[in-house]
Amino acid sequence: MKKTTPALIAASLAFGLAACSSPKTGTAQNGDLDFAKQTSTKQSAEVNGQTVRYRAFEGIVYVKNPADAKYETINIYVPEAYYAGGSIEGYTADTAPIFFPNQIGGYMPAEAGKPGLDKRNNNQPNAMLVALSKGYVVASAGARGRTAANGKAPAAIVDLKAAVRYLKANDRAMPGDAGKIISNGTSAGGALSALLGATGNSKDYEGHLKALGAADAPDDIFAVSAYCPITDLDHADMAYEWQFNGVNDYKKMNVTMLDYNVKRELVPGTLTAAEIKLSNQLKPLYPAYINSLKLKDAQGRLLTLDKNGNGSFKNHVAGLLAASAQKQLDAGKNLNDRNWLTIKNGKVTAVDFDKYAKAAGRQKTPPAFDAVDLSAGENQLFGTATVDKQHFTDFSMQHNTAEGATLADAQTVKIMNPLNYIGSSEAKAPKHWRIRVGTNDRDTSLAVSAVLAAKLQNHGHSVDYFLPWDVPHSGDYDLDELFAWMKQVAAAK
Ligand code: DHB
Repeated sequence: MKKTTPALIAASLAFGLAACSSPKTGTAQNGDLDFAKQTSTKQSAEVNGQTVRYRAFEGIVYVKNPADAKYETINIYVPEAYYAGGSIEGYTADTAPIFFPNQIGGYMPAEAGKPGLDKRNNNQPNAMLVALSKGYVVASAGARGRTAANGKAPAAIVDLKAAVRYLKANDRAMPGDAGKIISNGTSAGGALSALLGATGNSKDYEGHLKALGAADAPDDIFAVSAYCPITDLDHADMAYEWQFNGVNDYKKMNVTMLDYNVKRELVPGTLTAAEIKLSNQLKPLYPAYINSLKLKDAQGRLLTLDKNGNGSFKNHVAGLLAASAQKQLDAGKNLNDRNWLTIKNGKVTAVDFDKYAKAAGRQKTPPAFDAVDLSAGENQLFGTATVDKQHFTDFSMQHNTAEGATLADAQTVKIMNPLNYIGSSEAKAPKHWRIRVGTNDRDTSLAVSAVLAAKLQNHGHSVDYFLPWDVPHSGDYDLDELFAWMKQVAAAK
């Protein structure tokens, strides 16, 4: 793929002129999707004792008719070396992959990200800054979120797609290879990263993209990184009870969040009789769902559940935990305090999944995502411009306790779930996927990412899926490994 030297020189010249005339950050005029007209500032930061220099193109509105120009903007950062014909770690202005991290958390509105220090991670350089140090072009798009009337599903995924279209439409004018866009996100952002990958070029989003005036370009991407994706929302309630049924004490995470400034409080409690009943009703719904997917493991064995929720799929999820524990044992760690593991001669020989669930602890009350009283964040995600919160599963609609509650339309629920697209000819999904969910993550069932990974693998995608030991609901904690993976997949076809 890609570009001509003259376009780059022209872009470079345009920068020089613009930088002289305007020292401030370039802001796009609405309606102009031409990157060549953008101005930039020169910025630098320290990464591991090295100064990383880059040009910053910030606050670019990436659609012609923004519904919310505060969020529908993209920040683009280019290593300075690429303006002098240089290379970094083997990448050049023409070949550098584009790292595309979103900042979305809790399905809330998210502004475009900036390189800097990660306050959730000991003030280490964040993924964007590390990416620049390793020669990636970085493009971080903001997206609308559930608290706004115009940010309901599918707004955030439509926005990310529009941003990808902007990058593809401007591939010639911009350093970086828009044929090598690698998406990254955590939690709701991980779900949207996966959805972005799974639904490449799908017609299902076309009307929404047209309404925003998205650039006329494809929106398929090259690779997906997803940390703890809160996905498959329409089956996540039953998945949660499949895992946590019988665990009646909980520590509920009360999350208030705006623009990724997250405040989390753990509120302890015990399920009420009504909630236990809901759990008992939800759990037996999961086997039929799992069995309908006809998933297979790496050896080609069918992953199924019996009516009690036991079977090869459960053993498969337990096996993921065993693999994580084994890595700890191989590194010399003592795991004798984990009552759910059986260890013989330094080898994990059995995982008691029910004991694991109890030890991990319940964090959500049933139904975990489509709350019967519409109190979950996801209820607000599936609202409309005029109805703030809705149900999105038949189960919770039938068990509704809120006054006048309504059900989201089926098409909106469909286009928020990547599983509806993987393996379908309606979309172009990338070959390369990396999925990480910590063994201490209780925000959704481990089954959710296991299903996503298995479905991808079953359809020929290459999936690097692992559950890092004792890691809670979080992302970007293993940047060395993330970037090693990115380098390897970017070199592959
Ligand atoms: C997030 C966490 C959740 O538990 C959830 O239901 C949705 C989103 C998050 O951290 O993004």
